[in-house]
Amino acid sequence: MHRLYETEDIVVFWDSEKCRHAKECRKGSPKTFDPMRRPWIDLTAAPTAEVWKAVSACPSSALTCVYPHGIEVVLDDAGSRSVAYDGDKQIGECDYDVTTNGWVIYHTEVDPAYGGKGIAKRLVYKIVEAAERAGATVIPTCSYAAKVLSN
Ligand SMILES: CC(C)(COP(=O)(O)OP(=O)(O)OC[C@H]1O[C@@H](n2cnc3c(N)ncnc32)[C@H](O)[C@@H]1OP(=O)(O)O)[C@@H](O)C(=O)NCCC(=O)NCCS
Ligand code: SF4
Repeated sequence: MHRLYETEDIVVFWDSEKCRHAKECRKGSPKTFDPMRRPWIDLTAAPTAEVWKAVSACPSSALTCVYPHGIEVVLDDAGSRSVAYDGDKQIGECDYDVTTNGWVIYHTEVDPAYGGKGIAKRLVYKIVEAAERAGATVIPTCSYAAKVLSN
């Protein structure tokens, strides 16, 4: 399972398959990471610095985080894509097709001026999370999406 949690100050990615239940996250920020709650991650429950430190302590990389840089990432169901915006300006896009075999993620692109900030990973996660919630298999034919899902 892949989940994306976002505030204006931090973006957290969670890949449940990598979680070794070492509970370092909970030790570092018990109000943020509560396995008994749904959703189990609440980024508003503690200061961002505490959350960042707790995510960084995750020994398995099940949790990772990036700074959002003021970039908004949204799912555009109708367009079968996720889109990244800097204000009104579109600066990235990830595209998928809904097929009988699953959701095929076939292209990811981010304006080079915004590269290396985790924006493409946010775009991919946005789609993967939606696919998983819909009970669909994700088929990444885009090399970048394949890398995100195999790491
Ligand atoms: C690939 C791309 C979307 C990454 O955007 P980004 O926002 O800079 O990506 P992130 O910050 O989330 O991640 C950067 C990582 O992606 C890796 N990466 C860059 N291009 C990649 C590619 N084509 N395939 C796999 N990984 C790639 C980088 O090496 C870096 O790896 P690291 O985190 O281990 O250092 C962007 O470079 C791009 O638009 N490239 C041109 C289009 C393209 O090749 N798309 C992929 C095939 S459809
Ligand atoms: S620290 Fe990482 S591996 Fe450990 S419980 Fe939290 S998410 Fe899972």
